[in-house]
Amino acid sequence: MQPFASILYLLFIMTILHMPAYGQLSTTPVELAVEPGEDAEFTCTWEDGANSTKQDLLTWHRITEISLATSTGNNNETAILLTNSSKVEIRRGVFVIRNVTFADAGLYKCHDNSDAAPVEVALIVYDMPSYWVEGGILLAVSAALLLVLVAGLVVQRKRAERARLEREKKKKRHRAAWLAQEK
Ligand SMILES: *[C@@H]1O[C@H](CO)[C@@H](O)[C@H](O)[C@H]1NC(C)=O
Ligand SMILES: *[C@@H]1O[C@H](CO)[C@@H](O)[C@H](O)[C@H]1NC(C)=O
Ligand SMILES: *[C@@H]1O[C@H](CO)[C@@H](O)[C@H](O)[C@H]1NC(C)=O
Ligand SMILES: *[C@@H]1O[C@H](CO)[C@@H](O)[C@H](O)[C@H]1NC(C)=O
Repeated sequence: MQPFASILYLLFIMTILHMPAYGQLSTTPVELAVEPGEDAEFTCTWEDGANSTKQDLLTWHRITEISLATSTGNNNETAILLTNSSKVEIRRGVFVIRNVTFADAGLYKCHDNSDAAPVEVALIVYDMPSYWVEGGILLAVSAALLLVLVAGLVVQRKRAERARLEREKKKKRHRAAWLAQEK
């Protein structure tokens, strides 16, 4: 009976540990990659099921600096509160950046005024054409290297063949000379 009871107890503890604690925030997506000119949208919600008043209190911030405070083990962050503008819209936890530029790339976090831990998201801005150019350059370099390799192999083969023919010719000449001596 004793082992069975401890297993039950362990299961009970594990269930508690895996239940979302009250007042946890979560965001979707956690990471987003867009091209310049596109819009980026993140949604922040309460894991325990938001009531609309609480959802209205959520704020979004841009993290401008992170320094590792080794003494406390916590990151020291500098963040700017984001407000509605022609570029940014924040409404009930939903955060939209319109017409994204490379300058918008970085870390953002969702917060509320209570002591719930803030949650962070990352915005990545990438340029497809430059990927293609990079890919093209890489391909061209690879092709050039392959060409050099193939040319090298061909030259080496020809050289080896010539050397072999030379050796055979020499052998024949020696044999002829030897036969002539025999006679
Ligand atoms: C909703 O959240 C607000 C702010 O935290 C709180 O004052 C209010 O009592 C909550 N309402 C319900 C129905 O839980
Ligand atoms: C961390 O932030 C506190 C203020 O919140 C400041 O006094 C301290 O100097 C900062 N530490 C580092 C390492 O930036
Ligand atoms: C931003 O604007 C929307 C309407 O477009 C509004 O519903 C929302 O409350 C505003 N957010 C803030 C933080 O003022
Ligand atoms: C998007 O931003 C670029 C550069 O900042 C600007 O030239 C363009 O007109 C903007 N497009 C829209 C639809 O706002």
